[in-house]
Amino acid sequence: MRKSLVAGNWKMNGSRDSIRALLGGILDGIGEVNTASVAVCAPFVYLQQVSEQLVGSPVAWGAQNVSEHEKGAFTGEIAVSMLQDFNCGYVIVGHSERRSLYGEDDALVAAKFARVRAAGMTPILCVGETLEEREAGITEKVVARQLQAVLDAEGVGALADAVVAYEPVWAIGTGKTASPEQAQEVHAFIRGMIAAQDAAVAEGLVIQYGGSMKGTNAAELLAQPDIDGGLIGGASLDAAEFLTICKAAG
Ligand code: PGA
Repeated sequence: MRKSLVAGNWKMNGSRDSIRALLGGILDGIGEVNTASVAVCAPFVYLQQVSEQLVGSPVAWGAQNVSEHEKGAFTGEIAVSMLQDFNCGYVIVGHSERRSLYGEDDALVAAKFARVRAAGMTPILCVGETLEEREAGITEKVVARQLQAVLDAEGVGALADAVVAYEPVWAIGTGKTASPEQAQEVHAFIRGMIAAQDAAVAEGLVIQYGGSMKGTNAAELLAQPDIDGGLIGGASLDAAEFLTICKAAG
């Protein structure tokens, strides 16, 4: 049985004060979350604060990006060893905002994925199509290409210690959620693609949905057989809303 994972992706939001309050609110209600795993992915500069507030709690933490390089002359970049230093459990790689706004291609995402895994942290690999691609009927082709880059570089076994997040780009931050059926279709496609190479890895793989998931639509999305949690942007900035999603996940 797969254990759902609900992860907050705070993006470039928050301050010392707002984060202290947000985490306080999450910790107050986390006892009512029964089975789902819960994590928050914070901006780098707040990882120290987040780790201090969450240590010993059931809430894990992680980062939203990482360098593909080990260390050295890469001004402004953050290495996996630095994230390890703050006991990060998760690192998001290949978020669509990184792909579209910062030019990250499949090969770069695969390199970041490899670094995170080699450092013993869990990569959350984001895949998903744009509206244009969905309308052109190439959703599966795009998602398959994004996944294949990681499979080619790392092999299917790598997905045994990774999470995949299916995030249709047209649903991110737009308030337009994929319908449960639309999301399930792509999740089943992803699991099937992995199963063709390794049935056990496919069965154990946590595949999150992301894109305007919120308290009011989480339950129906999470009821789908291949949706194992969520990667939550906007709704993760509000403790009550985030907890509602976590509870819906189990
Ligand atoms: P959203 O973002 O929940 O605000 O749509 C999700 C994401 O980008 O991970």
